[in-house]
Amino acid sequence: MIALLAAAVLTLASETSAGQPKPPLAHATVPARGDAIKVGGDLYALHCLACHGDKLQGTPQAPGLMNSGAASVDFQLSTGRMPLEVPGTEPMRGPPSFPRDQIDAIIAYVVSHGAKGPDKPAVHSNGDLTRGRKLYEENCEACHGATATGAVAGFGWLAPALLQSTPLQTAEAVRTGPGIMPKFDERVLPQADLDALAAYVDSLHHPDDRGGYSLASAGPVGEGLVAWIAGLGITVVLMFAVGETLKAKPRG
Ligand code: HEC
Ligand code: HEC
Repeated sequence: MIALLAAAVLTLASETSAGQPKPPLAHATVPARGDAIKVGGDLYALHCLACHGDKLQGTPQAPGLMNSGAASVDFQLSTGRMPLEVPGTEPMRGPPSFPRDQIDAIIAYVVSHGAKGPDKPAVHSNGDLTRGRKLYEENCEACHGATATGAVAGFGWLAPALLQSTPLQTAEAVRTGPGIMPKFDERVLPQADLDALAAYVDSLHHPDDRGGYSLASAGPVGEGLVAWIAGLGITVVLMFAVGETLKAKPRG
């Protein structure tokens, strides 16, 4: 009995841990030496072409990449979103499938094809946290939540938690607008604002030294719970409204 239990626990444990890291791609072993564009082209042919097309023109599976510059490709690859594993699903953050030099090679290849999009943004580490918080509340919180733990963003999209994003990845997301996220260019958020936002998002990784307030000092859980309950309330009201409309229909 005990042995059985132990076995069950072991299976559970291995199952949960198996869900975490993405196994490295078996054939991602092209050497990074030599011509980066050539290496990038080979990697592209193996891992991207089927969805994004041989001329980066896109396919029914995926958008073209001619508007994806270095920032977009770096964001998608360094956050492990691409190559997309399951077509038709929202790209998710995970361990990157490629080492740094191969990511750079793929960027070089895509850019060499004339893809036009923002270059990798500069991020300075002296961003103003107070300004960052204000900008976050105005531009980001509605989707990502007050504590950046993620939330449902609508249209079937999840705005992910930002607790693992590096300052560079935050800046890249802001400049490129992945998925349904809006794109914020330099006219909307100049460099100092970008630095401030990147610094603020980074500070949320360590809630203890974040300058933020928390709901009746209940902390992130309290805020999340309140948002959740409020959301639930709205859903229930909506369900009633829909129910009433449906009931009303047949009677004309
Ligand atoms: C299984 C299909 C698939 C594969 C393989 C794939 N992608 Fe994608 N890619 C997608 C889809 C679908 C999207 C759009 C996701 C979305 O809805 O935002 C996308 C989006 C992107 C974007 C953002 C485009 C934009 O307009 O914002 C980049 C950059 C990108 N992919 C690069 C790559 C690279 C580089 C590879 C190879 C290493 C790759 N992808 C492999 C399906 C794929
Ligand atoms: C309309 C909702 C929406 C708004 C507003 C929004 N985002 Fe996003 N954000 C998203 C969605 C959806 C994704 C996931 C996109 C994907 O995976 O293709 C995302 C992804 C991100 C990521 C990547 C997280 C990771 O590490 O995986 C970062 C960083 C980010 N957003 C930061 C911001 C910042 C900073 C702002 C404000 C300037 C902002 N977002 C505003 C919806 C939004």
